[in-house]
Amino acid sequence: MTREAFSPRIAAFLCSWCSYGAADMAGVGRMGYPADFRVVRIPCTGRLSPKFILSALRQGADGVWVSGCHPGDCHFISGNLMVRRHFTLLKNLLEYVGVEPGRLHFSWISSAEADKFARVAADVAAAVRALGPASGALGALIKAV
Ligand code: FES
Repeated sequence: MTREAFSPRIAAFLCSWCSYGAADMAGVGRMGYPADFRVVRIPCTGRLSPKFILSALRQGADGVWVSGCHPGDCHFISGNLMVRRHFTLLKNLLEYVGVEPGRLHFSWISSAEADKFARVAADVAAAVRALGPASGALGALIKAV
């Protein structure tokens, strides 16, 4: 399979209060963005356990994207800041065991930023597509973490 033909499976964990709304607005506004995402709507990124990311990768996702409210806008005060720290630690740990950093993405996108959503979605999809399919060994590797 060529890189151009490769359509990655990207798990997108989107906060219901902001990035999910931006995705909705992007759709309503007919802004094109890649269809490579399997969206999981979550009540706040602070609800996102690192286990969800590991589980997505173990089950065959080629990449993961987490997007939530901007700092200061989280409906649960600091869930977005807490998960940002967890995400960074997990990304570093996964890089240590061989997972390319380009497979994991984090952003802050408000519900009014449909254009930013479409732009970041395109960037995330391009970055994961450039890496190619996640190796079959990735799942086994992650089980060991
Ligand atoms: Fe959106 Fe917390 S409510 S990240």
